[in-house]
Amino acid sequence: MNEAASRAEVPGVFITFEGGEGAGKSTHIRFLARTLEGLGYSVLMLREPGGTELGEALRALVLDPAYGPVSPRCEMLIYEAARAQLVDEVIRPALLEGKIVLCDRFTDSTEAYQGFGRGIDREQVRTANAFAADGLVPEATLLLRCEGAAVGLDRATHHGDADRLEQEGVDFHTRVNRGFDQMMGESGGRIRLVDTSGPKSMTAAQVFAALADVLPELSDHSRFDEDYFSTLDVKAHG
Ligand code: TMP
Repeated sequence: MNEAASRAEVPGVFITFEGGEGAGKSTHIRFLARTLEGLGYSVLMLREPGGTELGEALRALVLDPAYGPVSPRCEMLIYEAARAQLVDEVIRPALLEGKIVLCDRFTDSTEAYQGFGRGIDREQVRTANAFAADGLVPEATLLLRCEGAAVGLDRATHHGDADRLEQEGVDFHTRVNRGFDQMMGESGGRIRLVDTSGPKSMTAAQVFAALADVLPELSDHSRFDEDYFSTLDVKAHG
């Protein structure tokens, strides 16, 4: 199935968020979801791996440090298995109902982590991705990038125990981040860069701007002005 056909075949809108560790994706997904709901859309927030009962069980397995070392192919197939279930059980039906689906990670994470990070041949990863996603391709993907792998890892793990992927060294995560950058350049505009080094309000404004072609309402600057975004910074300190 070609990319254009798989994007056009459903009435809903599928948007994914990608990036290395500690980029703050979930904050921005929640903020965007609230805004879109305020505009009258029906919005579904999901995360990968997860989003279904089976997917959450697979998530717990694949991230549990107790199982290391895990074969890279086994690791990739667990992510793909969780994805296949999520696409069939949740994403495709929601898109058919016309919902906006915001997903925290999708196929690009597998290409970055298992392809660039673990060294699995990228073509093989892409073939597995297309099979698991049943050809579904996001309408737009936001790549949230922070200052560097070490900073992101630190932010992701300072609250408590690191999961199995977070326990990989900085070199692994640097390869992942570089992979995302390369994939963005090759994506024909689907993957859009969002710089997260400034305050959350600035990152959120970039998220909205990056989605202007997919959801034109987000570029209504009289409604979504500095004050609107600044609530994010207030909350961060409150
Ligand atoms: P996170 O969504 O909380 O960041 O946790 C998911 C972890 O799994 C994160 O380290 C990225 C990693 N991952 C992969 O390695 N491959 C994948 O296909 C996906 C979806 C996530």
